[in-house]
Formats: sequence, C-alpha cells, structure tokens
Amino acid sequence: MSEDFDVKLVEDVKSYTPDPRYKKNSWLGDYRTAYDEFLKDQDAFWSKMAHELEWIQPWDKVKELDYPYAKWFTNAKLNITANCLDRHVSGDRRNKAALIWRGENGAEKIYTYQQLLSCVMRFANVLKKVGVKKGDRVCIYMPLVPEQVIAMLACARIGAVHSVVFGGFGAAALNMRIQDAEAKVVITADVSIRRGKVIQLKSIVEEAIINSSSVEHVIVLRRQSPQVELRPNLELDFYEMMRSVPADCPAEVMDAEDTLFTLYTSGSTGKPKGIVHTCGGYMVGTYYTSKYVFDIKDSDIFWCTADPGWITGHSYIVYGPLAVGATVFMSELTPDFPDAGSYWSLIEEQKVTIFYTAPTAIRMFMKMGETWPDKYDLSSLRIIGSVGEPLNPEAFEWYYQVIGKKKCPILDTWWQTETGMHMITTMLGEPMRPGFAGLPIPGIEADVVDKDGNSVKPGTGGFLVVKSPWPSMLRTVYGDDERYRKYWYTIDGVYTVGDLAVKGKDGYIMILGRSDDIIIVAGHNIGTAEVESALVSHHAVAESAVIGKPDFVKGNSIKAFVILRVGHEPSDKLRQDLMYHVRMTIGPIAVPQEIEFVDKLPKTRSGKIMRRVLKAKEMGIDPGDISTLDE
Ligand code: WT7
Repeated sequence: MSEDFDVKLVEDVKSYTPDPRYKKNSWLGDYRTAYDEFLKDQDAFWSKMAHELEWIQPWDKVKELDYPYAKWFTNAKLNITANCLDRHVSGDRRNKAALIWRGENGAEKIYTYQQLLSCVMRFANVLKKVGVKKGDRVCIYMPLVPEQVIAMLACARIGAVHSVVFGGFGAAALNMRIQDAEAKVVITADVSIRRGKVIQLKSIVEEAIINSSSVEHVIVLRRQSPQVELRPNLELDFYEMMRSVPADCPAEVMDAEDTLFTLYTSGSTGKPKGIVHTCGGYMVGTYYTSKYVFDIKDSDIFWCTADPGWITGHSYIVYGPLAVGATVFMSELTPDFPDAGSYWSLIEEQKVTIFYTAPTAIRMFMKMGETWPDKYDLSSLRIIGSVGEPLNPEAFEWYYQVIGKKKCPILDTWWQTETGMHMITTMLGEPMRPGFAGLPIPGIEADVVDKDGNSVKPGTGGFLVVKSPWPSMLRTVYGDDERYRKYWYTIDGVYTVGDLAVKGKDGYIMILGRSDDIIIVAGHNIGTAEVESALVSHHAVAESAVIGKPDFVKGNSIKAFVILRVGHEPSDKLRQDLMYHVRMTIGPIAVPQEIEFVDKLPKTRSGKIMRRVLKAKEMGIDPGDISTLDE
C-alpha cells in the first residue's frame, strides 16, 4: 500500500429516508444525538453499554491505552455464556426460542433458551471430561447445524479458546489452522449437506490431523444412519459423550481480557492470520451492535445467512443476538437449493423480521429474477442488511424494491474479522444512499485519509482508517504480534483497515474494495498468496500469480497465471488437475475460474510479482506507473 490514488466522486444525490417510525421506535433513537453523546465522553458511552450486561466483578477502568495496544474493562470478570444464556433463563426469556434451525427435506430443530443452556452445559462437561482446560484451544470444523453453536458456547463456558474453521475449507487449510493453534480437540461431524450433496467432513479431518500431534481427541457429530465407524480412543460420539456427563456446568470466571476465540482470516502472505478476540470487549461490542444497529426486539426473528464459521456468524448468529436474547433463525439450506426460492420460502415460513445477507447472494438473486421472491410473502420483514463487500447501487435498488418492498431500511454494515463488530453503516431511520455504507456508528471514529493520515476532502478517495480503539478490536494475531502492529503502524496513529474508500459531501463513506493482495470472492476473503502457494505446491508448477477479475455475481473471480516446470506441457487436463488441487488444499471457495499458462510473469527488480500489471493487461487498461518493472 504505497501509492496514493486519485478518485473524484461524481455524486449521485439519490437517497431514501425510511418511515420516521423506525427511528422513533428504535433502541438508539437519533443517530446524531447518540454520536455526540459518545464524542462528549467516550468512556462513559461504553461504560453505559457494558452496564446493560451482567458482570461477576466490575471493571477498574473502561479502557487502558498503550499504543498500539488497548485493554478494555480492565480487571472485570465475566462469562459471555452467562450473558447469552443464564441471564435469559433466569428471567422472562426462559422458554423463548433461542435457536430455530432448518435443514434439508423439512428437517427442523428448535431450542429454547433453557434447552440451549442445558445442551451447552452438558457439552462443556464433555470437553472437561476429555481433558480440555481453560486456555486450551479447540478446533470446530462443522456444518451449519445447532451443534456448531453449542460447541462454540461450550468452549466459552469453560474458558477454552475456540478456533472455528469454516466447513468448506479443505484438508491443508484445516491442517494449518489446527497446527497453528495447537488444538487439543477437534469437533466435527460425519458429513455436511450442501445442495442435496453429502460431503464427508470426517475424512477431511482424518487427513488434516496427520502430523498434528497436539490433537488428542476428535468429537464427531454423527448425522447419518447407519452411523459411521469411529476410530477407538481417538474419535468420540458427540451425543453419547453428552449422555455420560453431569447436567450442570458453572460458567468459568473469565477476565475481560482473556481470549474468547481465534479466527483465521487471509492476509497478504500465504499464511492466514489468527485474529484474537477477548471475552469482555467482544461481548460488549457484539451486544451493543445487535441491539442498537440491528434494533433487535423480543418479537423479532433474526436471520443472518452466514455460517458460524465466519466472523459474521460468530458475532451475529451466536454471541450478539443471544446476548440480547433474540430468536435466531439459522439454516443449512443454500439460496439456490432446492430452487431459487429457498430463502424467500424460509422467510415466509418463519416470518423472519430481520434478514442479513451478502451482496454476492443479492446479485445472484437479481440474476435469477423477481419471479422467485414474488412467489412468497415477505411482508414479515422489517429490516434488511448486507455485509461482506460493497453493495453496489444496482444491487441496493433491487434489494430495496424487490425484497424490502420500498419499506424496509437497508443496513449496509461495513466491518471485518479484526473489528469483531459493525463499524460503519447508515443507522436506522437515517437517509440511505445507494453505494454508500454510511457513517461511523456511535462508539467508532473512522475516516478516509491520505497516505500521511490527513483526512481527505469530501468527494475524494483514500484509505479507510479507524482513529481510536474500540472494545471488540482484535488484540493481536495469534503467535505473530508483528502482524498486529502492522495494522497500527502502516499510517501513524491509526488502525489501517486495508480498504480504499471515498467520502461523500455529507461525510458518508463509500467503500471501494481492498487496497492489498486480498481478493473478495463471493464475500470470502482470499489472499492471492494463499492460492499461489497452493498452486506451487503442485508438482507441475514452478511459479504462479493470482489476480481478481470483476464478476457480476461474485464481485470478483480468481484468475491464475502459471509457469510450468520443465517437462510439463500445458493442457486442459492439467488445468483441471490444478483446479482440483486448489479445491483439495484450500477449498472450493479458492478455486481459480481461469488458469492461463505463461512463460514469464511481470516482476519488480527485487523479484516481487506485479499483480497490478497482470490485472491491467487482463482488463485492457493502463497499468499506471511501471518504472519498477524489471525489463
Ligand atoms: C473485508 C473484511 C465483516 C464480515 C464479513 C467479512 C469487506 C465487509 C463490507 C461492506 C464494503 C465490505 C471489506 C473488509 N467488507 N463489509 N459493507 N461494504 N466492503 O469479513 O472476511 O474479515 O473481510 O470485507 O473489504 O475489509 P472479512
């Protein structure tokens, strides 16, 4: 990220203002008033939020700064599950539905808060029984089923650190994450079910734990009958274990700064970063945004279509909504199976009121046409949200008109794995501008700056930064604090996000995309270096370079340039082999759509591949400054 760039915004003045009742009836009330209250006394603002939750022992200080580090709610003691579960069970939400899950062929499971707490306590005792202690790492590699949520909460119950790996990742990606975290236990399932197809998860785990000496046990949720065989001593059955332990498990007393979980995200090297989140700050941040951004009320049915394996699922399927006592709907069904109406039929069936999905899904729905949503009654919806990449104006319009029926406000929420919670959006009731995420939420100071950190003039572009710490910020990168420091030292004094953005006349922020070597494909963060190193690990490949190409539905698609080793000839068969190899190493989400065999790659004199040049050539545009190009 070395160069400034020049964007002049031609502003579209179009905006939509929601019915004033949204603002009037919201938890937040007026955005400006709330933001000013935050600016007046930042610690008082967060202290007030934190006081809405239950603590075993209160904090000495709201925050303690030691740049680039920050601690929040110092010396406070808590357990996040006591807030997500016990707090509701001891009150009026005891018999309220906490989780409603839908799988294929009409499968459904419902857990009340009481039932969910019981399951979590039993599974927490299972973890204890197999030797998991406070601070131990547990890897969760599961399909989108309630047991995944139970496993996460059970870890949190006893203070074990969960590292959830999305069930779509391949064996090598899983292996790297297990090894990096030195996970003691892996929790998985026999299979996951996607679009009617059965994917053997356990066999991927078997491959991933070869050479992972830290793994003592694998706990397997067996979904299929007849049940798969378990390897004696190593593999244990999820529900059999639960029947063999006591029912009660007190919540472990955690320090606010103890680690709650690590979650891997792509960076600009081949090795993903284990983002570390802590108990206290993360709890306050996800609770606050679930209540005041999503405006969740007791009568809502909240559906976030992400997988708990991503940060979106951690924050807005599990911890945030449960902390506010919401009814959370989750589904293993994909948007296009059994047909393109699957999501809309679920909204009608469950009377979903708040729906949170990704632009890539919205653009796919656009492509499939309005006849699908038009077949269903979507009138239960009151708020619709978006996350993961820019919601382009065309997709905004479609979402607003066809799904929201010109009545539901759209919350286009900008945030990251690192931020843990929403950071920028257009708060409920405020005028929405297609293409713009909006303004920093109360509690957050964000801006668009030039490379020296100076705020850019309205109408111009620059780097998106966060100017002061927030409770749910990452505390470090697991085992690699240097990479943490980089976020805070790229531009002095601020947290550099890695996104390019433009500021509108009214301060509204439009996110343009990544400024680094990360490609967002269908809402998933993929490092070019990860795909390149997967390709190079194939015996026929000498070198490779990967770029993102604009794609209407996915936002970007991956194109790989490959130099073959001597003795290997380009062929369609080899191209297919390489795609399969990436699928097996990282997973289906990282498979290049195109592979081009080349003789050389554009490089700097120091040998760095200039992906920018490849991209410009690919798109037939001017590559810009190429003075550092070798030859
Ligand atoms: C990157 C973070 C946060 C959960 C999902 C992704 C992009 C995210 C938006 C948005 C434009 C967005 C950014 C960001 N992004 N939300 N509303 N508008 N871009 O989490 O995998 O950590 O990716 O996703 O580029 O830096 P993640």
